[in-house]
Amino acid sequence: MYNKMESCMEYRRITFFIPENEERYKEYAAINPDMNAEEIVWRVNNNLDKEKYKFDVTVSDCNNLYVIVNKYFKLPEDYCPPDLVEVDGSLMREAVAEAYVKMRDAAQKDGFSIRVTSAYRSIEDQQKLYNKFLLNDPAEVVDETCARPCYSEHHTGLAVDVEGSIKGGRNISKTPEAAWVKENCHKYGFILRYLPEIVEITGYASEPWHLRYVGTQVSTDMRDKKVKSFEEYRERFLK
Ligand code: DAL
Ligand code: ZN
Repeated sequence: MYNKMESCMEYRRITFFIPENEERYKEYAAINPDMNAEEIVWRVNNNLDKEKYKFDVTVSDCNNLYVIVNKYFKLPEDYCPPDLVEVDGSLMREAVAEAYVKMRDAAQKDGFSIRVTSAYRSIEDQQKLYNKFLLNDPAEVVDETCARPCYSEHHTGLAVDVEGSIKGGRNISKTPEAAWVKENCHKYGFILRYLPEIVEITGYASEPWHLRYVGTQVSTDMRDKKVKSFEEYRERFLK
């Protein structure tokens, strides 16, 4: 039987427990009886108990390598990342550019062709993109594949969309490059941010072309620990 007192103690033992969230942990646990206390805590700390796009927090650590930008955490309207550089016609942060070039060249050595299609996008660019999709689909459908302006990881300069041997990022799944990227991107500090297993967490359909730079230490550790979402990893291992 659900024991309230025992369960409170369980939350408090978790290192990333936040006292202000205690009521929310209890409410979320009541509707998710199969989740363990640690999962309840990292999920609620990420606001997953709230409706997406209805519980906005403006990010303050915008330039941090481990920044989370998603349907709960948005960037300020005037945000522009530091140290953007141009590679293969796209802008990305310096460390990301260095890692991307290494990955692109390693793929080439293995006989695969990887090229960036979109990296840094300004808030205006994202607005135009979102509006373009809205011409064909209602907002709830567009929201499954395209972030609203201020909520896109592309604003951070840490995200890189890649295409394989058929032009267009969305075509990568039809090419052998998709498997190469999945198997090797962690060696260069990238993670696949929108995996099919975590649609419920990210709120986006699977994107085998969207890579997020987190550095090799984190990308390899996420792989070793089999943690799929950066939301979970950051809460459990980086705080
Ligand atoms: N396609 C991703 C979710 C973006 O628009 O940022
Ligand atoms: Zn992307």
